[in-house]
Amino acid sequence: MNQDEMKRKAAEAALEYVVTDAIVGVGTGSTVNHFIDLLADIKGRIVGAVSSSEASTERMQKQGIRVYDLNEVSQVPVYIDGADESDHYLNLIKGGGGALTREKIIAGASDKFVCIADVSKLVDVMGTFPLPVEVIPMARSYIARELVKLGGRPVWRENFVTDNGNLILDVHDLKIMEPVKLENEINKMAGVVTVGLFCNRPADVLILGTPQGAKTVLSK
Ligand code: 5RP
Repeated sequence: MNQDEMKRKAAEAALEYVVTDAIVGVGTGSTVNHFIDLLADIKGRIVGAVSSSEASTERMQKQGIRVYDLNEVSQVPVYIDGADESDHYLNLIKGGGGALTREKIIAGASDKFVCIADVSKLVDVMGTFPLPVEVIPMARSYIARELVKLGGRPVWRENFVTDNGNLILDVHDLKIMEPVKLENEINKMAGVVTVGLFCNRPADVLILGTPQGAKTVLSK
């Protein structure tokens, strides 16, 4: 089974978490694209979706899934999204697709966060995948210098603007031993919109696509 087939397996398994007659939160990325395509087949069972990116919104609307603004809904029972890395405690690195801010907002607003990924995303220590940080444009160089002080090597994701009109610094060379502490430290820098560490609000469920099929890991 190739990586994309494993992503599809994880997306299929996530369908059982979709709550009938409710809103579903939908993330961003190639794994979530599989989920959106599968969700389209059962769209009559849900009220609609809230979306973490313009790309996911467009994909859902093309398939006839009604997309609501988060401000219009009072409850999101479940949020389904991918990840770039997960540790065994379901702390995540996200933002490879640049949608980290809206992803973190919907994750925070949801009762349950179900993360879907292929098995290659599960790691013992996060940081091999460069950590995305969304920054206000005028703060880019200042924040880059601050991230160097933390031991990272920030690289400006050139020719990329987030859905919120901001920039991304991808921070290489981190070995993230204290994820919550690092998330808090980066979040408090003036000019940072969001850091792509999801540890204060980790996933509740991790569904991994493996060569043997989908495997579910619950938070401890
Ligand atoms: C987008 C994300 C994605 O969930 C993450 O990049 C994983 O993507 P993929 O499913 O394509 O591997 O955080 O901002």
